[in-house]
Amino acid sequence: MKLKFVYLFFFGMALYLGLNSFVENNPYFIITTKDVEVKVPAGFPKPVYDFKENKVTPEGFVLGRKLFYDPILSADSSVSCAFCHQRIAAFAHIDHTLSHGINGLIGNRNVPPLQNLIWQQNFMWDGAINHLEVQPLAPLTNSQEMGESLKHTLEKLQRNKTYVDDFYAVFKDTAITSENLLKALAQFTSLMISANSKFDKYQRGEEEFTEHELSGLKLFRAHCENCHKEPLFTDNTFRNIGIKPDTALRDSGRIKLTGVVDDYMKFKVPGLRNVAMTYPYMHDGRFRTLQQVLKHYADGVFYTNYDKSIEKNVGLTNQEQSDIITFLKTLTDEQFLHDRRFADPNFR
Ligand code: HEC
Ligand code: HEC
Repeated sequence: MKLKFVYLFFFGMALYLGLNSFVENNPYFIITTKDVEVKVPAGFPKPVYDFKENKVTPEGFVLGRKLFYDPILSADSSVSCAFCHQRIAAFAHIDHTLSHGINGLIGNRNVPPLQNLIWQQNFMWDGAINHLEVQPLAPLTNSQEMGESLKHTLEKLQRNKTYVDDFYAVFKDTAITSENLLKALAQFTSLMISANSKFDKYQRGEEEFTEHELSGLKLFRAHCENCHKEPLFTDNTFRNIGIKPDTALRDSGRIKLTGVVDDYMKFKVPGLRNVAMTYPYMHDGRFRTLQQVLKHYADGVFYTNYDKSIEKNVGLTNQEQSDIITFLKTLTDEQFLHDRRFADPNFR
């Protein structure tokens, strides 16, 4: 009887060690120096994020990835960054209108995709945050998201010998500091670069567009480009596109931050890469489909002090709307969505 337990114990240990070395030894998860090289894609501007202050190394990236997928960062160890930011959706959250956090609490905004963050000057739908490294503090401490104090998170990590070793390997410090936690996360998120969609291949002369894709591109450039500017498909400004304020959520956008009356209902112009995968849409996820988004622009029912430049979309025909959607689908970047570097290291 006793012997059985001894066997079971050793079997358990072997399984544990086997699984643990799985990630380190499996080529799918291994990150090399080449994997963390930052290449600015042709035609893209200079990144806003300064890598000189936080040079990405394979160890730093792997640590960031581990943290991103680890619910240890939340108060009751139930919610990781990846819980809300799903890889298959370009790190947005499919099927939840508003974000879901610890204890099943529902937040008040739609989870945006995480991609091409190093070109962003402002984060969040209203631009409340202006640095990529500082950004995770918001979900970590938000009571409806991860609901944990930074102090307690650091204590939990410090108690974990593997994390202490991991952090030491990257930052040469036995104390896990908030600065290094944020830097490690940024080493992972900064590399989320999407620049290899069919549209990019078309731009580089590697692939042809169909007749409808071409017509959609032309229409897009005439109607949408002044806000959704190529190649990032955002001009990094805040605009009011006349959507009806939600009386339950009472989210008035950027005005809450600036107090400037003119900022009422202004939200960040979202980059539209991978947009076919990142539904639902808008800051509150009110539209489930691209058809609904296009209908909003075309039907001309606009509320509050909207940006007049959307008026030229009024009356877009069904065929034109459908061509624009066909074009938007060329922004899906399969290479990014299936990039093994961003895969969940706990998934075997
Ligand atoms: C409970 C769901 C949830 C969790 C957990 C979560 N996020 Fe988010 N994230 C959101 C929502 C919602 C927003 C948009 C918030 C807003 O606009 O006010 C967001 C915004 C962001 C942004 C800004 C994107 C942009 O384009 O402006 C980044 C970067 C980000 N999150 C990274 C992280 C990281 C790193 C973690 C883990 C430490 C994390 N998130 C955990 C829901 C979540
Ligand atoms: C005046 C600037 C402006 C113009 C012009 C404009 N947009 Fe937008 N677009 C925005 C803003 C701002 C948002 C976010 C609004 C919100 O969240 O409430 C948005 C949101 C979207 C979204 C949802 C993206 C997401 O991730 O939730 C799509 C899709 C979209 N626009 C497509 C288009 C198309 C197609 C056109 C042309 C027919 C267009 N837009 C014209 C500013 C603009």
